[in-house]
Amino acid sequence: MKLRTINGIDLRGKYVLLRDDFNVQIVDGKITEGFRIERSMPTIDLLRNAGARVAICSHLGRPKGVRDMKYSLRGVAEYMNLPFVSDCLDKSFMAGMRDGDVVLLENLRFYPGEEENDLTFAKSLAAGFDLFVNDAFAVSHRAHASTVGVTQFLPSYAGLLLQSEIDNLTAAMKNPTHPVLSIVAGSKVSTKIGVLRALIRLSDTVIVGGALGTTFNFALGAPVGNSLYEPDMVQEALKIMEYARENNCRFLVPLDKGVAPVFEPNAPRTDKDVSDIQPNDVIIDGGPKTAARDVIEIENASTVIWNGTVGMAEWMPTWSFGSFAIARAIAENSRFGKLKSIVGGGDTVACLDACGVMDDITYVSTGGGAFLEFIEGRELPGIKVLQD
Ligand code: 3PG
Repeated sequence: MKLRTINGIDLRGKYVLLRDDFNVQIVDGKITEGFRIERSMPTIDLLRNAGARVAICSHLGRPKGVRDMKYSLRGVAEYMNLPFVSDCLDKSFMAGMRDGDVVLLENLRFYPGEEENDLTFAKSLAAGFDLFVNDAFAVSHRAHASTVGVTQFLPSYAGLLLQSEIDNLTAAMKNPTHPVLSIVAGSKVSTKIGVLRALIRLSDTVIVGGALGTTFNFALGAPVGNSLYEPDMVQEALKIMEYARENNCRFLVPLDKGVAPVFEPNAPRTDKDVSDIQPNDVIIDGGPKTAARDVIEIENASTVIWNGTVGMAEWMPTWSFGSFAIARAIAENSRFGKLKSIVGGGDTVACLDACGVMDDITYVSTGGGAFLEFIEGRELPGIKVLQD
């Protein structure tokens, strides 16, 4: 899929509105994970070096159309060492800009018009700019004013990150080297039905884990104690497993689980086979037999697609065991090119980061919901408007 790019456009002195996704994790006012910001830098540098006058816009969190300073992007501007404009519709900063200057605008979602894709808001946002560049793959599944509406008012192009996401994910989905293994975990089956079906069509083996995997265990008759799962998704889970059989795709559910009496980071861990889970047990991680099986499956694969951690990976080290085993096995097999690995999703990427293996993965997507929708084959509105 080829999008309109800024290649060959004279950018010197042009006012560029750049959409990035700086929806990053902030704890106590500090950015804990700057992956999306780092991946946005090549386009920012390209525009800056070409002499453009760049205003970056982004959302942060879900402030629901009100000016809630908990969601201010000021901290991101400080982290990036950029001048900050405290209202995304205030254009007074433009007059003082010189070629190569870059500023960051305040959170777009402080205005309800952003998420409503309101054209009056989009027009005000576009006012004064010469062109629009979208580099925010992670929000391209949302038809918002800054991803779709604004393209009605400005010549619009894809940035380097957006194009690279599409190229890499398309290559993974079109002609993957078999055997293909997909690992899908996280909390809910209900949010991943479409992607599970798409991955079943593509893969030789699908592994499910996390609370999502628990729902499949329950559908197969296993006790799940006091754990998170979706009882009303049992019929859907059975249909998905039937769909895997029809598509000759091996469908693997968790074998054992790490459980505790309470859902807390410091709770004591016991490992139990899925058939031995007791009424008061709370499942918090995959168990060692499941992890060993997952590692063998990864070693035997030529392509791995991974989304979703299989436990509370941020509760290290007790509950990160299953997710770290997967992250390390994927990294070790990818490091020297034996395995092609594609990983996406905020928690999953944070897990790679915590393991220190991010650089070993063949391609790490900046998308969460956008990654899943793209893999599912859905048309993403923010991308559609950049195609000729
Ligand atoms: C994400 O983090 O997946 C994107 O920034 C989109 O955020 P949203 O789900 O709040 O639209």
